[in-house]
Amino acid sequence: MSGSSADTITHVVVPGTFDPVTFGHLDVIRRARRLFPRVTVAVAASANKHGRGTSFTLEERVDMIREAIELEGLPADIEVLPFTGLLVTFCHELGAGGVVKGLRAMTDFEYELQQADLNSHMAPDLESVFVMSSPKYGYVSSSIVREISAMGSDVSILVPANVNARLRAHFAAS
Ligand code: PNS
Repeated sequence: MSGSSADTITHVVVPGTFDPVTFGHLDVIRRARRLFPRVTVAVAASANKHGRGTSFTLEERVDMIREAIELEGLPADIEVLPFTGLLVTFCHELGAGGVVKGLRAMTDFEYELQQADLNSHMAPDLESVFVMSSPKYGYVSSSIVREISAMGSDVSILVPANVNARLRAHFAAS
């Protein structure tokens, strides 16, 4: 457990499917690291929010984030780990005191509120913290990136170069 409810939170988890990581995600990760001294990016093994499988394997999604953190000059102490099962269990195993997520539009809000309520019900000691997405990334999502890339168009304004290269290879092969 992460201690009593009065403890100052020093370690947070930024969870997601990251299929693949976008500039929007990296913006949230960067900002989480500005707010908290220790940040772990938690990459979910399971299917995404619509219950479908992922385009990239868990290992590929973890690798892409690690590469992007280095490429984009984010603090090197940000760790990236895969997880299976419940997010709250993973946070407890790590000793993290909170979860940071980005919010883009009202559509995100309803989904995120539901997840935060559920997590809070299962683990009242964990805080959910939300950062508003930067306006320039408000429209960026992994599904939009996959869709554009699958049609053969360039997505270099939406994702880092390493992810763009992996997307091209992925859709060229499929
Ligand atoms: O990138 P996403 O789809 O917004 O990430 C959603 C994610 C992975 C954070 C969420 O589905 C999650 O926490 N999954 C782990 C399983 C879990 O804890 N479920 C209960 C809370 S919804």
